[in-house]
Amino acid sequence: MDKLIVEGGHRLSGTVNISGSKNASLPILAAALLTDEPVRISRVPDVSDTNYMIQILSQLGASVERSSGTVRIESPDGISSSASYEQVRKMRASICLLGPMMARMKRCTLPLPGGCVIGDRPVDLHLRAIQALGARVRVKGGNMVIEAPNGLVGTTVDMRGDSGPTVLGTDNLMMAAVLAKGTTIIESAAREPEVVDLANFLNKMGARIEGAGSRTITIHGVEKLHGCEHTVIPDRIEAGTFMVAGVMNVSDGLTLNRVCREHMKSISDLLVECGHVVEYNEDGTSVFVKPGERPRSGKILTNPYPGYPTDMQAQMTALFALTPGISVVKDTIFPQRFMHCSELKRMGANIKVDSGTAIITGVEGLSGAPVMASDLRASAALVLAALAAEGTTDIHRLYHIDRGYEMLDDKLELLGARVKRVLDEAGSVGED
Ligand code: EPZ
Repeated sequence: MDKLIVEGGHRLSGTVNISGSKNASLPILAAALLTDEPVRISRVPDVSDTNYMIQILSQLGASVERSSGTVRIESPDGISSSASYEQVRKMRASICLLGPMMARMKRCTLPLPGGCVIGDRPVDLHLRAIQALGARVRVKGGNMVIEAPNGLVGTTVDMRGDSGPTVLGTDNLMMAAVLAKGTTIIESAAREPEVVDLANFLNKMGARIEGAGSRTITIHGVEKLHGCEHTVIPDRIEAGTFMVAGVMNVSDGLTLNRVCREHMKSISDLLVECGHVVEYNEDGTSVFVKPGERPRSGKILTNPYPGYPTDMQAQMTALFALTPGISVVKDTIFPQRFMHCSELKRMGANIKVDSGTAIITGVEGLSGAPVMASDLRASAALVLAALAAEGTTDIHRLYHIDRGYEMLDDKLELLGARVKRVLDEAGSVGED
């Protein structure tokens, strides 16, 4: 188990290349199961979540080769339709195997995903969708056993849940529908760029999907899909995380390459509203950010895309902790996603959390302290706070960060940060 030692206060400047999107890569890797022909996917970030998915695909019987950012997958007939608890428990997102397995093999056995620290992660919408296409769902020994012996038949499915649309639920239904008989219409679909990237990948395989990125997606089932090549979109949450680093009070300005301006609108708009400098190049693939003269506090209400992303509220909370005035963060999607606040308070932040809302009163400065990472984005918030804190911060349980940030310590060092990854004897103490 590793920890990251961050020496705060060092000035940041320079340029960073943003990696391919983890959250676009995961369903696209799973979608490779939909054909027996080879697919090549480029700019797949080398993070533990994508490596878990690659491991699971290999264990199912697919042949998977990774060379730097490109992954080649071939899924011959006869691959397994069940993944074990051991394989799946490490990554909730493996639920996105459900759609491709049902489309290709008409059956699947997958462990019910456990919860996680950001909240209960139900799959009722995923199951409602696959049942609507004619599948039978049983729960046995902690597994979902799903069968559609007569194949899947297209229909109209409204995917809206109490907390709005579901990203992976929309992905699963799209992947199940591409080989179903007839047409499937997804109402209240998630509009995230990662859903659009998956739809583009599936259409390159010969699927017939229209409307991805809007609330209504139409999928005309086809007989078979073929291999293809695809490059994954930039990771908008990694980019947002580095944009926040670039406007912290230790930054002299950062340039981020390989971004997509359109995907970053709500994040960029909030930083400008809070008084910071955000300047894109002509085609929106690169952005320069730096702290404003008079930073202002802000208000975040997370919403499904194109609203402000829940995956970026923790990072902004670290910035708000050092911004004069009172800021408010309300997470409507994961109301429990505030584990980072108690750790930030250990560094001197002034934050009150109450039923899904954090009230942050900016303080003069934060001080380094030993802190515990708890989930992917909360850990990123701790790194950001540590960069601006006075003194040294030890961030334990670094594996949370390694799930979704490719070479974060190397990228930060290149920008002038003083960070060191070391083996963590103390970090393994206590429950996971
Ligand atoms: C995706 O998770 C992302 N993960 C999450 O990013 C992100 O936070 C989330 O979307 C919301 O944007 C990946 O893409 C791999 P949801 P997903 O289904 O699809 C409720 C990160 O940090 N819901 O869109 O699993 C659910 O409880 C990760 O990179 C149901 O009620 O999330 C939540 O309140 C964390 N029933 C809301 O919908 C269901 O069957 C949105 O969840 C499914 C979801």
